[in-house]
Amino acid sequence: MSEEDVYILAVESSCDETSAAVIKNGNEILSNIVASQIKSHMRFGGVVPEVASRHHVEQITQVLESALDESEMTMEQIDAVAVTEGPGLVGSLLIGVSAAKAMAYAHGKPLLAINHMAGHIYANQLVQPLVFPLLALIVSGGHTELVYMPEDGVYEVIGETRDDAAGEAYDKIGRVLGLSYPGGKVMDEMAHKGEETLQFPRAMMKEDHYDFSFSGLKSSVINTIHNARQKGDDLDPFNVAASFQASVVEVLVTKTIRAAKEKQVQQLLLAGGVAANKGLRTALTEAVRNELPDVELLIPPLKLCGDNAAMIGAAAYIEFKKDEFSSLSLNARPGLMLE
Ligand code: KG4
Ligand code: ZN
Repeated sequence: MSEEDVYILAVESSCDETSAAVIKNGNEILSNIVASQIKSHMRFGGVVPEVASRHHVEQITQVLESALDESEMTMEQIDAVAVTEGPGLVGSLLIGVSAAKAMAYAHGKPLLAINHMAGHIYANQLVQPLVFPLLALIVSGGHTELVYMPEDGVYEVIGETRDDAAGEAYDKIGRVLGLSYPGGKVMDEMAHKGEETLQFPRAMMKEDHYDFSFSGLKSSVINTIHNARQKGDDLDPFNVAASFQASVVEVLVTKTIRAAKEKQVQQLLLAGGVAANKGLRTALTEAVRNELPDVELLIPPLKLCGDNAAMIGAAAYIEFKKDEFSSLSLNARPGLMLE
């Protein structure tokens, strides 16, 4: 343990995972505890905010203790406490923010307020050093964004979804197919067992901006399923998944590659829950190899794609270095933007 080493205790509770982690120097995971509530939300077919808040309250103390235990650190050795301030569900965010403030106050440590989306991007720093300028494609249950970063901690959102997020489209179609929430992962597996027999729209793919739209695609897929059911036609759900995934992946990859070329970036980063998608990982890897051989592609391991506190600790290190500390009056900001 050298003098300059920085140890951050990070907390994440923006949606349905209660998580705490201890991160060394923004790139080394000493612990990363994630308590998922998915089972509790499954029977409702989505995250119920009140249920999520209650679970966070029940879990947070134990999760914080486990993160410290597993890292073999004490609060005395921790340099700062970081927490997701937004975006997310207000009731969920508040539990993490309150717990982090209590820890910071009780132990006299500075507090760092972190944007959840920045966390998803910096999950990649736990794998490899970031090199700028870079472009990040963030695809999650709530967001689909292309973010240009000229340097550490500076974000320019150059494109975003105008309606549904990619993960949201996966989950809503998954529900119509009878899958339990969240359906994204199973749809991905199904897509690999089916074939692209149906032609679904690829919205905004050729337009000269970097925004996305997935709600038309979602409606088109759901209408196809309903029409087939009404007529009593046989529609192979595996082929539906494969056809839908082909459309999502083609749009995401085409626009991301075009933006990376225009911005002349050194690195391309994939981030967010949908970054776990096998089809997307493979297609993006191939496209970068063929069209941008000089650009380095970073894709986090599966366990760092979904929500976790390690990524918050990685993003927090940048704010720590810049002395961007927060006061104890910090509040949750459910609609917080990256820029
Ligand atoms: O980042 P995340 O854990 O939570 C948010 O901040 O939204 O992302 C969760 C989303 C869900 O919509 C889930 O269905 C989706 O990521 N997801 C996937 C896959 N694994 C998770 N979507 C497609 N393919 C996957 N393999
Ligand atoms: Zn997320």
